[in-house]
Parts: sequence; structure tokens; C-alpha cells
Amino acid sequence: MQIREEKGKILILDDEAPVCRTLSRIVNKIGRECVTANSAEEAKELLKEESFDLILSDIRLPGESGLDFIRNTVAQDPDLAVIMITGVDDPEVVEEALELGVYGYIVKPFKVSEVLINISSALRRGQLEAEKKAYQNTLEQTVAERTQKLREALTGIIQVVARTVEARDPYTAGHQQRVAELAAAIARMMGLSEESIEGVTMAGTIHDLGKIAIPSEILSKPTRLSEIEFELIKSHPQVGYDILSGIEFPWQVARMVLQHHEKLNGSGYPNGCSGEEILLESRILTVADVVEAMASHRPYRAALGIETALEEITKNKGLLYDSQIVEACLELFAQGGFQWAASD
Ligand SMILES: [Fe+2]
Repeated sequence: MQIREEKGKILILDDEAPVCRTLSRIVNKIGRECVTANSAEEAKELLKEESFDLILSDIRLPGESGLDFIRNTVAQDPDLAVIMITGVDDPEVVEEALELGVYGYIVKPFKVSEVLINISSALRRGQLEAEKKAYQNTLEQTVAERTQKLREALTGIIQVVARTVEARDPYTAGHQQRVAELAAAIARMMGLSEESIEGVTMAGTIHDLGKIAIPSEILSKPTRLSEIEFELIKSHPQVGYDILSGIEFPWQVARMVLQHHEKLNGSGYPNGCSGEEILLESRILTVADVVEAMASHRPYRAALGIETALEEITKNKGLLYDSQIVEACLELFAQGGFQWAASD
């Protein structure tokens, strides 16, 4: 009989020395090493010292029974196969052994061929399961690596799109990136998950995507906008949403972009949503957007500075801006733990 070569040893557990000798001879005959134990206690000591592929176990033993030994010590180890070799020919005991997941059940007196066949199929099954596990691990690793690469590609594409929008409006170059950075820092301060922070960062990076539909003369106009021009500017969250809603993101990026100019009391645009109708991520983007915009230079005014920006969100805390988010933002700057990495 041809049995595939394996490295692990076989443990023989039987209190009768002649049975141990016979089984050892059979195991050696198929080119496998074995170790014998006369009691469950001895077998437990051996298991602490080395690993085995298979256990051939008697049921009636001095002290702990073979079944209890399997139940208490071996059944939890999926890599260890067990064959019961016993004088107990009782269907109830067989059923109990099967429930414990044993690979085979041989009644003494046994035939050599019977033992060989059982050992062979148990080892083959064990090997197939080990191969299946290794394949699953490789598969999971491959999926994780590909997902990571796709996310990196998505981030790269989003950044290119962001720069394309900003290229038409040099005065706000870098604005989206800086809003994304501040929004992520606020989200982290609030204890949001890394997954949510990634979503906020992505939405922040392209939150003004809809400005692509607005003439660049209006975007960079150094004087006050007319009512019509302002109405046109106000269409950008909806345009951004319309572009992004066709893309399957792992987050609600399109909705986050749609709501980034909504205000807590319903006075924002485009839909006048209020309170929790506005996504938490959008409420964070709103605060980050206002703070970044006021802290930076604009075509129609010089930079107002971070102090003025923080005064604005403090003044309107709970009215226009979510209180918890404002608190987190203030805390962030008070701690001196935030600085924009992106420069314009
Ligand atoms: Fe905007």
C-alpha cells in the first residue's frame, strides 16, 4: 500500500503492551515514526513536547478514558486526526466517538489491512484539509493585497480628479486636500473608526468636484458675486453628487459631497437639510471647510486667520455647526496637534 510521505509522527495510546507493539510494527511498515503511551496522562505529556499527525487510541484505559482524553485534549485541534482502536463494540460509544470527529473506529481483534486502510485514509484526509487551509489562507491574503491595491488606485484617481478641478481655480488650489486633512483629524479626535476616517478623507479630497461645471471666471472673481453667479456656485454640491453617485465607493462619498454645505439649522444648501438628516461625515466636512476657507487667502479677501475661523465656529456652535464637531475641532487646535501638510 502506498501512503504519501508525511513528516509528523503517530501517537499510539493503549494500555496493552502487545497491542502497542503490533500497531508500532504496522506504522513503521508504512515508513512512519510512532511513539507509544500507556495512559491518557502519558499521552498528554507527549503532546506537550511534540506534534503528531494522528493518534491511534484505545477507549478503556487506566485513569481517564480514551474518549474523555479525545474530548478534553484533542477534539479542539483541527490538525490532529484520531482513530479509535478498541474492544468496545457498542453503537452508542461509536456514535459518541463520531460526534467528537474521529476519523475511524476499529474493533479488536483487528486485521492489519483494516488498520492500514484506516491510517491511510485518515492521513490523506488530514493532508487534504491542511492543503485546503493553506489554499484558503493564500486566497485571503491575495484578496487583502488586491483590495489594498484597488484602494490605493482609487485614492490616486481621486487626487488626480481633485487637482483637475483645482487647476481651473488657482486661488483655491490645495483647498480640498487641506479640508480633507482637517476633517480626518477632527474625525480621529471624535474617535471615529479608521474606516470612517478614510471615507471622510476621500469625500473631503473631492468635495468641490461640482465646481468643474462652473465657469472659472466666476470661481476666481475677485469682486462680489451677483445673485445669479452665487446661485450657480450653489449648484456645485448637486453636480458633484450627480457625477459621484454613479461610482460604487466603499463609503457614501456622493452623499457626503452633496451635503457639505448643509447647515445644522436647515439654512444651508442645496436641500436645506437639518440635524441628523445631514450625514455625520458631511457635518464634519462643513466645519473643516469653513475653518480652512477662513484661514486661507481668497481672491476677494486676505486670509482671516485661524483665530477668526475658530471664533466663527464657536459663535455658531449648535446653530449652524454640530456642537460635538466644533468641540473636537477647537480641542484639536488648542492642543496644537494640527497642522496642514498640504500647502498652496
Ligand atoms: Fe464647497
